[in-house]
Amino acid sequence: MNRSEPDWWPEQLNVDLLQQNVEANNPMDEEFDYAEAFESLDLDEVKADIEDVMTTSQEWWPADYGHYGPLMIRMAWHSAGTYRVSDGRGGASRGGQRFSPLNSWPDNANLDKARRLLWPVKKKYGHSLSWADLLVLSGNVALESMGFETFGFGGGREDTYEPDDAPFWGPEDEMETTSPERFDEEGNLKAPLGNSVMGLIYVNPEGPNGEPDLEGSAHNIRETFSNMAMNDEETVALIAGGHTFGKVHGADDPDAHVGFEPEAAPMQAQGFGWESDHESGRGADTITSGIEGPWTDAPIQWDMGYLDNLLDHEWEPHKGPGGAWQWRPVDDELTDTVPDAHDSTKMQSPMMLTTDVALKHDEDYREVIERFQDDPQAFQQAFAKAWYKLIHRDMGPPTRFLGPEVPDEEMLWQDPIPDADYELVGEEEVAELETALLDSELSVSQLVRTAWAAASTFRHSDKRGGPNGGRLRLRPQRDWEVNNPEELSSVLDTLEGIKSEFNDSRSDDVRVSLADLVVLGGNVAVEQAAADAGYDVDVPFEPGRTDASQEQTDVDSFEALEPEADGFRNYLGDEHDRPLEEILIDRSELLTLTAPEMTVLVGGMRALDANYDGSDRGVFTDRPGTLTNDFFVNLYDMDTEWESVDDDDQVFEGKSRDTGEVVYEATRFDLVFGSNSELRAIGEVYGADDAEEKFVEDFVDAWHKVMTLDRFDLE
Ligand code: HEM
Repeated sequence: MNRSEPDWWPEQLNVDLLQQNVEANNPMDEEFDYAEAFESLDLDEVKADIEDVMTTSQEWWPADYGHYGPLMIRMAWHSAGTYRVSDGRGGASRGGQRFSPLNSWPDNANLDKARRLLWPVKKKYGHSLSWADLLVLSGNVALESMGFETFGFGGGREDTYEPDDAPFWGPEDEMETTSPERFDEEGNLKAPLGNSVMGLIYVNPEGPNGEPDLEGSAHNIRETFSNMAMNDEETVALIAGGHTFGKVHGADDPDAHVGFEPEAAPMQAQGFGWESDHESGRGADTITSGIEGPWTDAPIQWDMGYLDNLLDHEWEPHKGPGGAWQWRPVDDELTDTVPDAHDSTKMQSPMMLTTDVALKHDEDYREVIERFQDDPQAFQQAFAKAWYKLIHRDMGPPTRFLGPEVPDEEMLWQDPIPDADYELVGEEEVAELETALLDSELSVSQLVRTAWAAASTFRHSDKRGGPNGGRLRLRPQRDWEVNNPEELSSVLDTLEGIKSEFNDSRSDDVRVSLADLVVLGGNVAVEQAAADAGYDVDVPFEPGRTDASQEQTDVDSFEALEPEADGFRNYLGDEHDRPLEEILIDRSELLTLTAPEMTVLVGGMRALDANYDGSDRGVFTDRPGTLTNDFFVNLYDMDTEWESVDDDDQVFEGKSRDTGEVVYEATRFDLVFGSNSELRAIGEVYGADDAEEKFVEDFVDAWHKVMTLDRFDLE
């Protein structure tokens, strides 16, 4: 097999990550509009077809209890459950479960069967129903088909056609292991990780490191579910609600009988994995997790069976038929109360996982499950809402939710942004505001870094952040070190002043929001800086952003958007587990930038003197604030040689080869455009004598792209 570059140089910076923002593998036409295609569906018909599939058992993978509902719920939950709030990655919105590594994670065992069962539905609706939507919708249909009233469904998840290489899934190189490096000194998971074991969605069902330790299990559950922004009540509702249905599969020892996962399976398996040679390998003989048994006596019915079994009986650990730790009732009241999944003449006893019993052991979780047991309606509602949040968490604002089943209620986790109850500024008013901005005491640099501070929080992973909502002026954003709070506060005061003066002066209904003014300020600054370089450019401005209130802002959940470092504003932050240039690529990926867009933006931001603290690191120009390509020209000038000035090679000095005099200071964020061969190749395009105009034009395009990433209303 041909060796690829990472085989030779494993430490090499993965610039190619940005290629996935170009989606070269996407077979759909450029003008394809998934939202329009989805809206053309008759959702009731789709749901009826899914239910039909779910209740028609197939000989090649017989349904437990004649209903694939529980399997589909597990599939939908695992599709959404990879989400982590730290970087918004994972989650259901790309249909990522179809690709490696997720399709081959041990925790996703036999979900290949669930997806294949749904192929006739996917085939029938083709491009109007993405896999991403279908996987989640099937979970909802399953719940409804088994008597549960869901809170709603929003479509709009557009498929991708390749694995998402951006999420860091953990330091281990073996599945189902946990490296100590996954946790910090206090035993908490290190960001961005969401799960506690490589290849499992959250936690080990048997308990930490495969031991039935209830306290450790509860700790891990709380840790992992909170990384998905779920509180105790939501966590309990999800686990109890989910395990009200279905069974676990461990007819025998997985290690002795189960074959390769899909990515390693032979060609003739056609994408199927986990082939088992235990008896028939399916139906009653199925091995999935290696744990065996149902939770309740009515596994395809929404009821209180799970909570009653868990709370009304004592449970003890033992090794089941698959050799894994599981829990059985201590008393014999539940013996043979549960129908067999495939033989109606047989009865069984229920079981619990360590993670289930942990909910009873932990005082705070127990308080919630007891409340739910006393108040079934509260349980129903809590599960409905937590499930809705789970499967929609990474879809962004409600305007992106499609179809007839989207609830009217707007939730705090959706980062609400109010509608404009005024008329938007037109060309004339924009010109007036531009003059006010340029006449203010604010410098080009200040206007640029303020607009960047607002816009650069955007992440396409879960469609959060960006300037809309004007949250730069709210907690926690206004206090972040990267935003230089003291300076920001005074810049915001000036902008508020311009806004008030404008709004107060209007006798009509036209008003401007601070969110729009921040972006307009950045735009006029870029235009001014381009003019100073001799280029007359127009940065497009589309008004329409509105200002959210502090009450509409979940401070805790917004903390996750704080950058650990920012290459565009040369903010190094604290210590990092990875090189700064990797953080730059990571942030650029979240901003959907290509490598050239990232390059021209960094070069431009340096020329515009936009470092977070006003330092001159990387500002390789004697005309700061002017939109020139000087950053590249001077970086590639052989008259300068570089040396590191700190132990960890974060900061460097550039000295004149002639005189030895220090002429520049720079960080890894700057010098990577000289050291990395791919970035250097792009940077050389911008540093050439014929590139000045192209540099300005490309900068303006990339700038405008970043300023409008959260304007889903413009699409
Ligand atoms: C099945 C673990 C949370 C829904 C299973 C299985 C395991 C497991 C080991 C058995 C898989 C098999 O052998 O077939 C866990 C753990 C959780 C968790 C450790 C978190 C601590 C959830 C949540 C939901 C859910 C949040 C949904 C809201 C289900 C369903 C099944 C299942 C419906 C039955 C699948 C079937 O009958 O084929 N879970 N789970 N689980 N889980 Fe969970």
